[in-house]
Amino acid sequence: MVAFDSLLIQSPKRSLKVPRGWDGFFPYYAGYPESFARALLKSADLPRDAIVLDPWNGSGTTTFSASQLGLASRGFDLNPVMIVIARARLLSPSEADSLEPLARDSVKGVRADSRVVQPNDPLLWWFSPSTAALIRSLERRIRAQLVGGRTLNANGVRLDHISGLAATFYVALFSVCRQLAAPFRSSNPTWLRKPKVDEELISATREAILSAFVTSVKNMADALAHRAVESQTDHTTAELQLADTSLTSLAEASADIVLTSPPYCTRIDYSAATRIELAVMQPLVEVEIEDLRRQMIGSTRVPDHHIEVDAAWGPTCCHFIATLKTHPSKASSGYYYKTHVDYFEKMARSLANISCGLKPTGAAILVVQDSYYKDIHNDLPGIITEMAAAAGLLLRRRDDFEFKRSMAGINPHTRIYKRAAGAVEAVLCFEKS
Ligand SMILES: C[S@@+](CC[C@H](N)C(=O)[O-])C[C@H]1O[C@@H](n2cnc3c(N)ncnc32)[C@H](O)[C@@H]1O
Repeated sequence: MVAFDSLLIQSPKRSLKVPRGWDGFFPYYAGYPESFARALLKSADLPRDAIVLDPWNGSGTTTFSASQLGLASRGFDLNPVMIVIARARLLSPSEADSLEPLARDSVKGVRADSRVVQPNDPLLWWFSPSTAALIRSLERRIRAQLVGGRTLNANGVRLDHISGLAATFYVALFSVCRQLAAPFRSSNPTWLRKPKVDEELISATREAILSAFVTSVKNMADALAHRAVESQTDHTTAELQLADTSLTSLAEASADIVLTSPPYCTRIDYSAATRIELAVMQPLVEVEIEDLRRQMIGSTRVPDHHIEVDAAWGPTCCHFIATLKTHPSKASSGYYYKTHVDYFEKMARSLANISCGLKPTGAAILVVQDSYYKDIHNDLPGIITEMAAAAGLLLRRRDDFEFKRSMAGINPHTRIYKRAAGAVEAVLCFEKS
């Protein structure tokens, strides 16, 4: 049983500085810093055989922190890119020395082979045919050398089996492609747009791409080697699974503690943010990006079926939705109403699954940020507290951290409405009842 009063809860706010070292390779809209997760898990004083669960694992801050403490963990995410990223993050420091020689070996003889690029290859969205062919040929080499039959076989892909080495090489290639595609990144840091019809596509020479790849792997190896010595990654297991947590039951009553941050309710398109990585990974796992966008919690797509507001979501949620629906601004009663209802319905189902996945004495810690829809306060911490209660999770402690900039503040159009200046990031601690 977790002693809630003894939990060490630091600010979950991420520094605005570009992350450095090992963390610098995983700057994927993480919900909270690794130092926050590690201090919290350590203070929970869990038994040695405890299981830590993150149902929205993202770049894997929770599973990484658990491993550093020698705790077994399970992480779920709907986006295949995040499974690869979270797996790479878990690479043992003992592998650091073999990374660069392996990368040099992998690039040997790689040439732009146009036969490996299918006409529908999504790399062609950003890259010229010869550059796409080179990137695909390098990806193919990584796949042939490091991805085995346990991950990819005739029955499909089992990303939960991908090795740390393969994942690390994919992350290095993601990083090269992100750098090359930088001109298509917009002011919204999570958005990578597709080029317009008449826009020039990205071209780079074979030497430039292959040497950027080796450099990227080398930088990862250096950062890995410098990681804190107290890391216990070598001795612990982390299971990472591709799953929709609003639809999947999470291994009933198995987790001692959940530590997570749910997807924001501020129209962040998590799948569009990883478009280029999904394009690189396409031969491993063919994702229909539109399906993925629709499935995501916080989807910007209108659901394809009608969803009723459910009183069980709690009074704060129902009041927020009713106020939003009658807001005079354009599309409030249509698009925005539907996408918000979709968010809350998926959230309610996910919380029920999370509750189910916890042991009877388990605890769940959720880091949740509030936001605004126009001038209406979206008290997401309050809404999630009520929804969690309906799922059998009772709030035992809440720590609020205020700060100036929220993810909602990224959109300049939101500035015309009057709102409270700060955002609140709440750390909500629940006990299974
Ligand atoms: C706020 S991020 C989590 C950040 C994470 N704490 C980290 O360290 O990076 C939310 C994550 O939820 C995932 N997600 C969204 N909808 C999902 C769903 N239905 N099932 C599983 N994961 C989902 C997104 O892909 C995203 O990675």
